[in-house]
Formats: sequence, structure tokens, C-alpha cells
Amino acid sequence: MTILDDILIAEATADPDGRLTFARVMELALYHPEHGYYGPAPRRIGRAGDFFTAVSAGQLYGRLLAGLAERTWNEMGKPGEFCIIEQGAHDGQLAHDMLSACGLPLRIVEPNPRYQAAQHARLADFQDRVSWTDSLGELPPCPALFVCNELPDAMPVHLLRFESGEWRELHVAWEGGRAIFKSGPLSSGRLRGEAARLPVNLPEGHMMEIGLAALDWMEALARSAIHGRIFIADYGLDEEEFFSPERAGGTLRRYHSHQSDDRVLEDLGRCDLTAHVNFTRLAETAASRGLSTLAYEHQGRFLGRLGMNWLRSLDGAPPDAATQALLRQYHTLTHPAFLGRSFRVLLLEKPRQLAS
Ligand SMILES: C[S@@+](CC[C@H](N)C(=O)[O-])C[C@H]1O[C@@H](n2cnc3c(N)ncnc32)[C@H](O)[C@@H]1O
Repeated sequence: MTILDDILIAEATADPDGRLTFARVMELALYHPEHGYYGPAPRRIGRAGDFFTAVSAGQLYGRLLAGLAERTWNEMGKPGEFCIIEQGAHDGQLAHDMLSACGLPLRIVEPNPRYQAAQHARLADFQDRVSWTDSLGELPPCPALFVCNELPDAMPVHLLRFESGEWRELHVAWEGGRAIFKSGPLSSGRLRGEAARLPVNLPEGHMMEIGLAALDWMEALARSAIHGRIFIADYGLDEEEFFSPERAGGTLRRYHSHQSDDRVLEDLGRCDLTAHVNFTRLAETAASRGLSTLAYEHQGRFLGRLGMNWLRSLDGAPPDAATQALLRQYHTLTHPAFLGRSFRVLLLEKPRQLAS
């Protein structure tokens, strides 16, 4: 039992059915301001934390994305008000790496004041080029490259299970102080709409996560006043891949000290919880709001192309120690055995006329 269990039990007790959706449990387990995993302050990511990300691999990722921002700026005709926008900036490391590698201004979308304070401290050297906004709705109208790394996978998901020929929802209830899953009807019309799109020829017990929050986020991004390009890097799948036999148990995982498992109701608030992004639904939602897909591919391919000019510039010269370190980072980011294949990039174009 954690403090968060007590908070959740109180909320479930007030519910007429005595239970919560898993999406609500995940929302509080990750974002409760005092007891959520991401609530009080940015945790260490990397060797000393619970998991690695492309950002924690080193500064090369930020350098490559700064190059993408400069190219976007050039292709948009070098508009004066152009900026990089990052959401899910955590401790500001990726922002730091991008600002170090280019002269463009950067704006962070960050709702958590404690994270904003940590980012302010991390980015003190760049204070004339960084600004903050609490939400996507408050972004000013400007040409931009929007960047996020591992953001939608950290958004709450509803849990569905295929039972006796229909999709049912796994709710969370507490028995003897212990959180358990209980199968029940789908909790909203919207969820029923999403479930109606899913196949019904699956083996009994197949699990599937539905990320309504990620779809809401894409809608908010599409409604925001910015225009330009949107870069999303995350682990995720095409929708049909969620239904393969090896995904029968779903993709929801908890992470702690570089170990992952499916005991997602244990140690709530002390572990990261994450589910694969459904890139099909994300791109469909973007398209329904007038955004178009410029690229959708494995991260290794996308970053491999971004890094091509840099690699060519090294030809012939024996690499010094700093270059060797960057080459190791390039390998980590692009090799299929590391982050190159498990992560995917979705690059969207958001036209100006949507902004008004
Ligand atoms: C898995 S971590 C990734 C951190 C960092 N981008 C990286 O790749 O190392 C997910 C981050 O997304 C942040 N996040 C989740 N929802 C957010 C939102 N609506 N706005 C801003 N950040 C959010 C969390 O606070 C957390 O810092």
C-alpha cells in the first residue's frame, strides 16, 4: 500500500460502483502533485534513474533535432518569429541540448510549476532565448517546430479485455487494501465508440489499451495557434500490431530501476507506468483536423537521415574522443538492437490556416 492507494480508495469509495477506471488510476499514479511519479519534481532519467530515453543517451539527439529545426526554419522562409516548442521537457535536458546546438528561440509547454522551476535552473545560460507556456491553448500564433520525446506514452490509458466475444473494460477496485482489476462495462460512450472500431475475432482475454488522453492531446495540438511541423518520437505500434498474438497481454508496463513488468497496480506512484502509442489513431486524429503526415518510420531511419551530413563530414579524419562519444550515441539512437527500431517518429505538417 502506498499513500496514493489511500487517496485512490477514498475516490473509489465515493464512486457508486466502488471502482475507478484504470485511466484515472494511471493519471493520479503519474501526476498527483505530491504522490504521483511525475508530481513533485523531475526524477533522474538514465543510468541513475528508472529508464533510459533518447535524451539520456547524450547530447547528439538534441543536436540532430536542432538541425531539423534549422531545416524547418529555412524551408519556411526563415520567418523572424520562428521557434522550437517542446512539451514533456522534464528536467530541460533536451531543451538544453537543442539550445546549445542552434541559435533559435525555444518555448516549453509545461503545466507543472515545479518542473518549470527545474527547467529555469537547468536553462539559466539561455534565459534570453527560452520562455514558458502552461498549456497548448496558450501558445501564441507563430511558425514552429514542435518537439516531444516519449510524451504520449506517458498519458493515461483505459484498459480493455476481449471477453466472450465483446470488449469489456478493466476497472480498478480495492479488496483488503489491495488494488485489483474487475471486468465491467465500458465506462463512456466515447470508449464504446473506440471499442466499436476494434476487431472481434480475437482469442479470449486479449488486452488492449485505449489512449483517449493522447487523442485529446493531438486535438489540442491541432487547435493550437502554431503552424509548421510537429515531431513526435515514442515507442508505439500501428493499430493492427496491437492484435498480434505476442501482444495478447497488452503493452502496459511499469518501470522501476531499469526493470519492467506488468504488475501495474503495485507501488502506485513509485513506478513509471507506460503503454505503447497507437500511431494509427494518433495520425488519423491529426488528419481529421487537417494535419498531414510527412514521415512515419522507425527512429533509426529518421535520425539516420538527419545525421547523414554530420557523418559525411567525419570522412577520413580519425575521430577524437568527443567525436567517438557522439558516434556511440548515434549507434544507440539508430541501431535496430537499441532505440532505432523500438522507437518510431511521426512528423506532421500543420498548415497556417488551421491556426485561427
Ligand atoms: C517518459 S518522460 C520523458 C521525458 C523526456 N522528454 C525524455 O525523453 O527524457 C514523460 C514526461 O512527460 C511529461 N508530461 C506528461 N504530460 C505532460 C503534459 N501534458 N505537458 C507537459 N509535460 C507532460 C512528464 O512530466 C514527464 O516529464
